[in-house]
Amino acid sequence: MGGGVRLGLVIATVLAGWMSALPASAQDGRTLGEPTDVKACMNCHEEPHVIGVFATAHMTEGDPRTDVATQGCQNCHGASEAHMVRPPEGQLRASPDIVFTGLRASPVEKRNKNCIGCHEAGARIHWQGSAHESSDLACTDCHVSHDVDDKVRFKATQSAVCFGCHAEQRAQNLKPSHHPVMEGIMACADCHNPHGSVGPHLLVAETVNDTCLNCHDEKRGPFLWEHAPVQEQCTLCHTPHGSVQPAMLIQRQPYLCQTCHDSTVHNSQPFSGESIVGGGAPSRMMLLRSCLNCHSEIHGSNHPSGIRFGR
Ligand code: HEC
Ligand code: HEC
Ligand code: HEC
Ligand code: HEC
Ligand code: HEC
Ligand code: HEC
Ligand code: HEC
Ligand code: HEC
Ligand code: HEC
Ligand code: HEC
Repeated sequence: MGGGVRLGLVIATVLAGWMSALPASAQDGRTLGEPTDVKACMNCHEEPHVIGVFATAHMTEGDPRTDVATQGCQNCHGASEAHMVRPPEGQLRASPDIVFTGLRASPVEKRNKNCIGCHEAGARIHWQGSAHESSDLACTDCHVSHDVDDKVRFKATQSAVCFGCHAEQRAQNLKPSHHPVMEGIMACADCHNPHGSVGPHLLVAETVNDTCLNCHDEKRGPFLWEHAPVQEQCTLCHTPHGSVQPAMLIQRQPYLCQTCHDSTVHNSQPFSGESIVGGGAPSRMMLLRSCLNCHSEIHGSNHPSGIRFGR
């Protein structure tokens, strides 16, 4: 039996249980149920995309944290009593107390207050004041609640949700050298906590380097001979999201190195066209334009004579 079929059956069974427990009048006549009862909503809301919610963690019967048996829908949408009353002739039905999407969506603050009310702990502890919170993002800008397939929570589909607003990072991830995010092997959330963090740029760790070293531990050191910028910040040489240079470098060699190292110290002038045309021999230090031909241990060396990162 496929997962989808099984899911469908689960939803159908749960629903049938509820519906058969309804008074006959409610089942046929679509009248008002008890205002704080999930069944009251289901009198009118059997739409397929609405009942998807029964398959999610929020509708786990017997979980006192959502108390679904008595107030499943109202947990999120509010008691909504006015909504359940038939509107007077010619008038629109009053909205539920909290509407999450569409033209009649409640103010962001009101929507978030509901979700954060149950979810402030754990990864969301720094939500207040975070870049997303202060830009008025709603939880529901990233999450869906009526579908177990909440795309933002899964590696393979998460980046598409983020790219909806972060087009620049999409462009960077499409460059030849990039972290395997588009490939679904990594996700933005491996480096960022979209709910807020103590680090800069919503990073999962307190610093850029601690974030990178979560995975690239071999660059951590301490080394006998350290290269100062590596200890300082990986992004002095690398971009995290993608680059046209190999190894996600921000520039190609020798220019990368020469942003800091004076091109007049040892023969490290850029290999210029002039030195060919004019017949002058190119510096041996500029062989194949790569400083790394000799300074290969650029992240630091543990070799006794690796002071110039040559070994
Ligand atoms: C008596 C029928 C009835 C009951 C009971 C009912 N609804 Fe509705 N609901 C409707 C109708 C009809 C609409 C479409 C209303 C409209 O477009 O004006 C609707 C729309 C909605 C919407 C979308 C609102 C929007 O503006 O996009 C939500 C959310 C909703 N209902 C939630 C609930 C919840 C939660 C309950 C139970 C607490 C509930 N409804 C009970 C009939 C009902
Ligand atoms: C009445 C409390 C309550 C409210 C309100 C609530 N949640 Fe939850 N939520 C829970 C519980 C309980 C779980 C299950 C957690 C678990 O199993 O650890 C959960 C799980 C989740 C999960 C993880 C889903 C999964 O399958 O594990 C997400 C995402 C989530 N909620 C988002 C939201 C959003 C967004 C809102 C607002 C629209 C919201 N929640 C409102 C209690 C609530
Ligand atoms: C910018 C997008 C975004 C916003 C806004 C957002 N989330 Fe999330 N949420 C995510 C991502 C991504 C994950 C998966 C995190 C992971 O894999 O580590 C997630 C996971 C979760 C989980 C399940 C993770 C767990 O701890 O088990 C809950 C619960 C949750 N979010 C609640 C919320 C609530 C509540 C809000 C609003 C205050 C919110 N989210 C706002 C992107 C977002
Ligand atoms: C975890 C919080 C949560 C629970 C529980 C919940 N909803 Fe919703 N509801 C939402 C959110 C968020 C949306 C916006 C669409 C989405 O995220 O899937 C929504 C959308 C809706 C809509 C509008 C659908 C549309 O897009 O046209 C209706 C109707 C609705 N809910 C009814 C219900 C009913 C009925 C129940 C109980 C069976 C229920 N909701 C339980 C959070 C919740
Ligand atoms: C390998 C870790 C990593 C991954 C994966 C990652 N980021 Fe970043 N991101 C960073 C770092 C580090 C910064 C800080 C930028 C800097 O210092 O140059 C940053 C900065 C940002 C910024 C702030 C603007 C900027 O460029 O400075 C945004 C927006 C952003 N990332 C979005 C995303 C999105 C969306 C994804 C998923 C497609 C993603 N990031 C994946 C590490 C990562
Ligand atoms: C609905 C639009 C929207 C979505 C979806 C969204 N973001 Fe953002 N994000 C913003 C806005 C607005 C800002 C603040 C302005 C800015 O820095 O561009 C922001 C800022 C950021 C920053 C920079 C924080 C800083 O201090 O520099 C990061 C990192 C980030 N988002 C990551 C993500 C990730 C990861 C996801 C997906 C899980 C995501 N965003 C989804 C709108 C969004
Ligand atoms: C969640 C784990 C993770 C984190 C965190 C992480 N990386 Fe990576 N990194 C990877 C993976 C996986 C690859 C791809 C390895 C491969 O393709 O063999 C990679 C590859 C790289 C590469 C080589 C790319 C190439 O084209 O050769 C560089 C450079 C790099 N990461 C730098 C960084 C920097 C800088 C940070 C911090 C901003 C960082 N990484 C954070 C997992 C991570
Ligand atoms: C001074 C510039 C510089 C800094 C700072 C730097 N790197 Fe690199 N990194 C390079 C260069 C140059 C390469 C290309 C190496 C090659 O082509 O063999 C590279 C390659 C890499 C690679 C892929 C090849 C490999 O050696 O595994 C990873 C992963 C990497 N760096 C991670 C990091 C991390 C993590 C940091 C921060 C702790 C960092 N780098 C800081 C210059 C730098
Ligand atoms: C962000 C600035 C920066 C970049 C980019 C950078 N370096 Fe460095 N490098 C330094 C600093 C600072 C030192 C320490 C100088 C000191 O102690 O006098 C250093 C030291 C060195 C040393 C050892 C020199 C000595 O006197 O012991 C070598 C060799 C070196 N770098 C090569 C490179 C190469 C090759 C590249 C390009 C892949 C590069 N560096 C990129 C800042 C940088
Ligand atoms: C052919 C091998 C080779 C190449 C290519 C090379 N270097 Fe060196 N480099 C050395 C050696 C050997 C030393 C130590 C001896 C010396 O001081 O001349 C050194 C020393 C250095 C030092 C220490 C400061 C100094 O003048 O003693 C720096 C900084 C440096 N190189 C940077 C670079 C940069 C940047 C490039 C690329 C533009 C580069 N090197 C290319 C071999 C090379």
